Amino acid sequence: MKDVNLLPNHVAIIMDGNGRWAMERGYNRSRGHLEGSKTLEKLGIYILNKGIKVLSVFAFSTENFKRDPNEVNYLMNLFIEMFTKKYKIFKKENIKVVFSGRTKNLRPDVLQAIDKMREETKNNTRGILNICLNYGGQEELIDASKKIAMAYKEGTLDLNELNKESFYKYLYQDLPPIDLLIRTSGEYRISNFMLYQMAYSEMFFPNIYFPDFKEVEFDQILDEFYKRNRRFGGN
Ligand code: IPE
Ligand code: IPE
Ligand code: MG
Repeated sequence: MKDVNLLPNHVAIIMDGNGRWAMERGYNRSRGHLEGSKTLEKLGIYILNKGIKVLSVFAFSTENFKRDPNEVNYLMNLFIEMFTKKYKIFKKENIKVVFSGRTKNLRPDVLQAIDKMREETKNNTRGILNICLNYGGQEELIDASKKIAMAYKEGTLDLNELNKESFYKYLYQDLPPIDLLIRTSGEYRISNFMLYQMAYSEMFFPNIYFPDFKEVEFDQILDEFYKRNRRFGGN
């Protein structure tokens, strides 16, 4: 038995099931995304106010551009609405919002909204909300490889200094490894999320759509997390 329950440093959530949540209620999929965005706002603040340092959320994958353009447009407009209006709340809550993903393929107005949220919250210190948008885990590793190759070519990187810890500096954000990973909606897959960062994360796949995933559901998972025996390859 452990003597203390150490809070996870980094929690990550694959926010899945918005579409099914809506369809099962006779709404269109967009309504599910709207509900999901409300859940994220409340849950994000709740998790970071607990003293957890970093929360990463999967908002839009590089592969999500395959969806119907109407749905993609709805999501992009929702992001703009959130980032240009809700920055005030994150500012007040002292939460720093950062973004992970590729800027290529994102509309200029979405990029502007991202900049607004980032700039307005950059000096905040209570916790970090990392929003993964136009994000792919394999893409992140490819982009890191390119940065490493450039740094080597320019002579700013000594290859002997590249190790598991220093590798994080070449990722989109230099964050701690993920301790606790949650994917809602009952799907048991990773869908190209933070592949490097989740090497030793404890995983939970609650059978609940993201709009319904509230504070109580998170606390239940946290209780289960404390019971897990994290061995990191030891015994
Ligand atoms: C997750 O919900 C949100 C995004 C991928 C943007 P989905 O839209 O994938 O919902 P389901 O999985 O179809 O129910
Ligand atoms: C993963 O969900 C991406 C996000 C939650 C943003 P998807 O719904 O896109 O994943 P698949 O298609 O079920 O693997
Ligand atoms: Mg899905």
